[in-house]
Amino acid sequence: MTHAIGITDISAATTSLFFPLTSLAEAQGTSAGKYLRGIGQHEMSVPCEDEDIVTLAAKAAAPIVERHGVDEIRTLVLATETGIDQSKAAGIYVHELLGLAQHTRVVELKEACYSATAALQFALGIVSRHPGEKVLVIASDIARYELDSSGEATQGAGALAMLVSADPAIMTIEPASGLFTENVHDFWRPNDRTTALVDGRFSVTVYLRAVTAAYDDYVSRGGAEFSSLSRVCFHQPFTKMATKAMQTLAKHAGAESVADAVSTLEETMIFNRRLGNTYTASVYMGLLSLLENAELEAGERVGIFSYGSGAVAEFFSGQLVEGYRSQLRPGALSAQLEARREIGYEEYRERHLLADRTGDFEARVEAQGPFRFAGVRDAIRVYEKA
Ligand code: HMG
Repeated sequence: MTHAIGITDISAATTSLFFPLTSLAEAQGTSAGKYLRGIGQHEMSVPCEDEDIVTLAAKAAAPIVERHGVDEIRTLVLATETGIDQSKAAGIYVHELLGLAQHTRVVELKEACYSATAALQFALGIVSRHPGEKVLVIASDIARYELDSSGEATQGAGALAMLVSADPAIMTIEPASGLFTENVHDFWRPNDRTTALVDGRFSVTVYLRAVTAAYDDYVSRGGAEFSSLSRVCFHQPFTKMATKAMQTLAKHAGAESVADAVSTLEETMIFNRRLGNTYTASVYMGLLSLLENAELEAGERVGIFSYGSGAVAEFFSGQLVEGYRSQLRPGALSAQLEARREIGYEEYRERHLLADRTGDFEARVEAQGPFRFAGVRDAIRVYEKA
């Protein structure tokens, strides 16, 4: 018997602090319009001392575990490019914080912002072999660039968790996938660095090249025509990137009106504009924003374009399931965005430098919870309930 497989629950988290881009523009003597309209970003989420990708991942996934229990979750896949260890999977700490069962496999996946999509595909494969199992996929990242670099305005932080199962309650993932890989240096982070290196404008051109190549491959593998995609969620390093991507795709796919296609993007950008780049989570933050803020009908098809620098990309689609809205937690992420404390330029810069700390230290108690990173003791990261 063939089961439909896809996303049965989705939940997101962000940090306790934020820095407005108007403050960044003012401090730099740059026009605020460049950030607000030029790249389409208003704020960036900033972690406090006792928040990291583990606390964010656990915070995003906790409501899912509370709703579904732990019995059927036998796999946790954590996608990140903000690794905290070169060997041990960050998901093992998340597994403990969430109280998942010992008979669970836990692994971490990496390929820049793309790897949450690899995690989703991994999950679909497991569930197709074991339809009674559920897979917890979590994307968690803190996007950091050098202070005073061109990427600085596109920093951000957040995590998004999805539960993948047979007979999903939110979205069935369709089998066709369009793929793209090319060895480029548009954005990368060597092991000795805590901030990314980026060739910003080049990265935009590679991203756009990947959009059309992955879409063409998707169609050639039996994917839907552009006209039957109600909406498309694009990876959003900054929201204007999704606009550029839709302009490129709509033209390439022969859309009747490029402007009309672009106008369908707004509901995918509401959270991302305030979170900043959440790397692996970004395209799925766009999906959550769409699900919560648009009035879509069951059966409507949503395209998803996932891009990770380096570069790997994938275009695929899903169909909304009857009653999907009742599975959402409307307002949950907006409430977290509202609860963040605003920080000024000096504090933002101090915190940026603090993130480069090495060795043992105790982290100040600041996070809103439910989990916190207590610090490093004897080279071991310590986590606790906040
Ligand atoms: P920049 O080069 O400083 O900015 O940074 P700019 O001069 O290109 O200006 C940006 C836009 O603002 C332009 O519009 C300006 O015209 C406009 P565009 O020509 O692009 O349409 N502008 C204004 N608009 C209104 N009022 C004004 C005003 N002034 C200027 N007053 C850049 C841009 C993207 C290079 C930079 O933000 C950057 O380096 N970001 C990091 C890299 C990045 O996000 N790349 C995106 C593609 S790669 C990707 O998505 C992967 C990634 O997520 C990593 C991963 O996979 O892990 C990054």
